[in-house]
Amino acid sequence: MTVKQIFDTMEYGPARESAAEALSWLVDQGDRFGHFIDGTFTAPGPGFDSRNPATGEVLATLTQASDEEVNAAVSAARRAQGKWEHLGGPGRARYLYAIARLLQKHARLFAVLETLDNGKPIRESRDIDVPLAQRHFYYHAGMAQLMETELPDAQAIGVCGQIIPWNFPLLMLAWKVAPALAMGNTVVLKPAEYTSLTALLFADICRQAGLPKGVVNIVTGDGAVGERIVAHPDIDKIAFTGSTEVGRKIRAATAGTGKALTLELGGKSPYIVFDDADIDSAVEGLVDAIWFNAGQVCCAGSRLLVHEPVAERFHDKLRARMDKLRIGDPLDKCIDVGAVVDPVQHAAISAMVASNTEGAVHHADVALPDRGCFYPPTLITGLSPSDRLMQEEIFGPVLVSTTFRTPAEAVQLANNTRYGLAASVWTENVNLALDTAPKLAAGVVWVNATNLFDAAAGFGGVRESGFGREGGWEGLSAYTRPKARPKALAPVAPMAAGDGAPVDPLDRTAKLYIGGKQARPDGGYAHPVWSKRGALLGHVPMASRKDVRNAVEAAQAAAGWAQTSGHLRAQILYYLAENLSARAGEFAHRIDAMTAKRGGEKEVQAAIQCLFSAAAWADKYDGQVHGVPIRGVALAMKEPVGIIGALCADEVPLLGLVGVMAPAIAMGNRVVLAASEPFPLAATDFYQVLETSDVPAGVVNILTGSHADLAAPLASHLGVDAVWSFSSTDLSGDIERASAGNLKRTWVNNARATDWFAPDLRPVLEAATEIKTIWVPYGE
Ligand code: NAI
Repeated sequence: MTVKQIFDTMEYGPARESAAEALSWLVDQGDRFGHFIDGTFTAPGPGFDSRNPATGEVLATLTQASDEEVNAAVSAARRAQGKWEHLGGPGRARYLYAIARLLQKHARLFAVLETLDNGKPIRESRDIDVPLAQRHFYYHAGMAQLMETELPDAQAIGVCGQIIPWNFPLLMLAWKVAPALAMGNTVVLKPAEYTSLTALLFADICRQAGLPKGVVNIVTGDGAVGERIVAHPDIDKIAFTGSTEVGRKIRAATAGTGKALTLELGGKSPYIVFDDADIDSAVEGLVDAIWFNAGQVCCAGSRLLVHEPVAERFHDKLRARMDKLRIGDPLDKCIDVGAVVDPVQHAAISAMVASNTEGAVHHADVALPDRGCFYPPTLITGLSPSDRLMQEEIFGPVLVSTTFRTPAEAVQLANNTRYGLAASVWTENVNLALDTAPKLAAGVVWVNATNLFDAAAGFGGVRESGFGREGGWEGLSAYTRPKARPKALAPVAPMAAGDGAPVDPLDRTAKLYIGGKQARPDGGYAHPVWSKRGALLGHVPMASRKDVRNAVEAAQAAAGWAQTSGHLRAQILYYLAENLSARAGEFAHRIDAMTAKRGGEKEVQAAIQCLFSAAAWADKYDGQVHGVPIRGVALAMKEPVGIIGALCADEVPLLGLVGVMAPAIAMGNRVVLAASEPFPLAATDFYQVLETSDVPAGVVNILTGSHADLAAPLASHLGVDAVWSFSSTDLSGDIERASAGNLKRTWVNNARATDWFAPDLRPVLEAATEIKTIWVPYGE
């Protein structure tokens, strides 16, 4: 069609971006790729084809990495790591900056290659994926520059294994590689098998930037290669983005290995439209929320919740808009919706939609190309919250919808999911928007917007959407560890019974502390606690799985604690400190008797200080406002994690309990604490301090017994959001494995790094909070 014809008829005229340069780059590489290991491309080996999903044509052949190749990549990364780290932040910043410049220089080639490989519209790869990837390298060049002054206690983790999905191949690579390199790590990255080409082009960019060999290694292949990376003993950290199912497997596979882990997983993000929203903007927002990248977006606004009074009008407008979407050749700059990534994904989407028998299905009235993996934009209205399609990620251009009557119901429906990645809230009422955002179980909330991303703002989920943040200052902790050298764990043994120790005629069996009351254990078993001389000091119950359940239930009933103000929590903590101070002598004596050391007084004073410090932090551990390049703000709000289960330090029976409890409750969490195993009586004495305080029932629950017996019940309980261990026994394997069920946060083997008498509460405060990024664009 000529320009004149287009003007005469005003008919749609395609504006196709040329694929010539990208195809010739593939030809120049011989159409067959090996891996990028130690600064060079390896010879291609047996592998598989990478196809253009819009046409089905083969673009190139990729190599399935063998065990030896994965080993070679890890060895190269290991060899390069020390030197790369010691280059220093400013030295590394130069390389990151050079990579950013080269990404910019080759932006069009990257965009076209991405579109060919993934099927996404060129408009998206050109305007979103590639610019955001560049921005990530620029931003993290700055983080490398600032690392030494701003993060003086942090150092690189080491060698990072990074596994990424196919929906944003280059962007996910940038999200993983840039912060890792900035902080002095080296990487072995595996792109997804459907979409490895821009990662290989990126390898070429690394070469052009003169990046020292071995700093970035890229191996291609399927999930089996991912598994090898996960299992490799010389990898220090795994960063994964992909399905929740695989995330769970990786959590289980890395359990107890000491590998650091971050998981960015699936979602079923709500898109809430209130009746006072700007309806046309909200409809247009949905085009971005669910038809951006054909809905193959982890944070896609895939669950529409519309206020009943406007639901009919909204759905009518939405159907009309859907029917105007242009679906077809992704290289056409006018296309709204491109191809889905692969016939396998197409089949998965089709099967999920076909399996649904509820509601009303509207497929957009659009012509589909006669070849390629195209799925029509689809809306399914009238579903119930429990319908499968309301709960499960479809990962395609399919929007499901239901209605609500009140803001409270909207929040309830929004949170009725095992996921917690993102949410959009549409209303012209700033009060309602800012009241709703904190109530949503999500790592990211967009107000009157959707799918806004930036390197300066953290991205990541809660619940089964994974843990860890990417972007912003908060994203750096995923790639650093403290400089202090950890000690080896050494289990602390209890005192033994003396020969012919007298039997105490009085029953001094302590109870458990659950829901603000002393509670008898379910099992009825108790064990004795002896002094160094073998005298009986008392008995404590052996808490069981059932007691864990009761304690979690009590904590659940105290959910209101999260809504209290920092000021109030501070007052309560100060009061606890006062109460403890009044009984300091008694506690010191007890600690000395149990531990046979003369450190009781010092420990009690440190515990009082800890309560004061936690009180001080309660209203000062602030969030941030990130400088994102939009008109508006991205608020990084700190929220409590929820219910935290913790195994307390064995060696400091009072301080270990208070040192975990105080910062956790200061941030608005509720806790289920397993007291020091060999010396539990300081904890049971502490019940009385709690009872005479204003700590609401259920905020603090204390169990006694065997850490090994309590670790798995706490970590597998679906009502617990995080499990920490300060135990002197290494229970990381049990805890991390059991946590895979609901992918709770775990923080284990902390006895190796905690100096109880020089406490810096910040690591605990960080573990006790989740960062929620709330985007609030403003202006017309
Ligand atoms: P996936 O989670 O299987 O693949 C993601 C990456 O993990 C790929 O690089 C893959 O090779 C690798 N992988 C697969 N199995 C592995 C294992 N056992 N150990 C280590 N690495 C492994 O996702 P897939 O199969 O491509 O898509 C399936 C579904 O997952 C989609 O339909 C969608 O629902 C969801 N998904 C979610 C994404 C997100 O960003 N949240 C991204 C991609 C998929």
